[in-house]
Amino acid sequence: MFESLTMAPPDPILGLTDAFKNDPRPEKINLSAGVYKNEANQTPILDSVKRAEQLMLERESSKTYLPIPGPEEYGACVRELLFGADHEVLASGRAVSAQTPGGTGALRVAGDFIHKNLPGASIWVSDPTWANHTAIFAAAGLTVKKYPYYDFANNTLDFDAMTAALRAVPKGDVVLLHGCCHNPSGMDPDAAQWATLAEISRAQGWLPLFDFAYQGFGDGLEEDAVGLRAFSTEGCELMVCSSFSKNFSLYNERVGGLTLVAANRDDAAKALSNLKVSVRCNYSNPPAHGGMIISTILGDAGLRSEWERELAQMRSRINHMRTLFVETLAAQGVTRDYSFITRQRGMFSFAGVTKEQVEELREKHAIYIVASGRVNVAGMTSKNMEHICKAFASVLK
Ligand code: LMR
Repeated sequence: MFESLTMAPPDPILGLTDAFKNDPRPEKINLSAGVYKNEANQTPILDSVKRAEQLMLERESSKTYLPIPGPEEYGACVRELLFGADHEVLASGRAVSAQTPGGTGALRVAGDFIHKNLPGASIWVSDPTWANHTAIFAAAGLTVKKYPYYDFANNTLDFDAMTAALRAVPKGDVVLLHGCCHNPSGMDPDAAQWATLAEISRAQGWLPLFDFAYQGFGDGLEEDAVGLRAFSTEGCELMVCSSFSKNFSLYNERVGGLTLVAANRDDAAKALSNLKVSVRCNYSNPPAHGGMIISTILGDAGLRSEWERELAQMRSRINHMRTLFVETLAAQGVTRDYSFITRQRGMFSFAGVTKEQVEELREKHAIYIVASGRVNVAGMTSKNMEHICKAFASVLK
């Protein structure tokens, strides 16, 4: 049966971590997959998470199934982080959520839901975007189209081209927007640009779908939600795929959420019933552990402030690494202007290297980055920075 199969290529991001693990060189550095490292080059479990897990061990009394969309209290936590506690979207009951296996699970459920319930809708993604977006939506049966986003020549947002394209997206199509910390470029719209995008969406009648995987990794939990909240006006309709992999450092617990905001409570109930069908056909109902960590922390004032402190530490370390990367590149004799990296946010930026230079970084210097030239700044440390920048200086010569 399987003899006629051909080998599928390795995943463009996670496949590199497999290759990295098999690399025997002790000096190797992995700047490919978006995983946060501390100054000791580790991805530790947050103290707030450890404390929540201790409480859960004492309190948990059953391993019975969760409801298809997960517990209602989990959905309430997700929505509160997205919109803020006092938002009309919450009070009106027109937002519904499903607990999903990570942000990726949310994207797949969203893709299935759109394919089944919004027939004929194409989905538009930024060019460039996370490599897995196109694969997920195509697997769900959607037609994927691209809108311009990043100006590679000037390392900035190509806002004019982006808005021109989004003004031509037909009513009823879906537009995927990165809520903050754009993956792979790190380049986000500013508040005024978000307001313009929201206006275009309302005028055109396309449905915004936010991929919100890095809330709190840019400028803060509230600051990073500026884009989403610009769209969250009276009567708006939108969807959000959010993730707790990064901001709670819960990568392997696969915990995220799909939130749908409908025009009114009745539409929201209809949408939720259909989201449940999509979830049931995918993984039936979500695993409990990760979601319980989130609701335990967010439901306890002490744990919540401890988590917010830990999140702020991660964020400020990443932003410090952005500055240090630019300074150390210059100290190693790189004359190209890399200051744009300090204006970008989140884990990623493009380092402006060609495919050949990416290979040279891996082969000669044991530094792993994604083929597009995307680097994970959150994987840099004060200790490995010199090695990284010497290697970049050498391949850029
Ligand atoms: C990334 O882009 O590196 C992360 O989102 C991890 C992944 O699943 O690709």
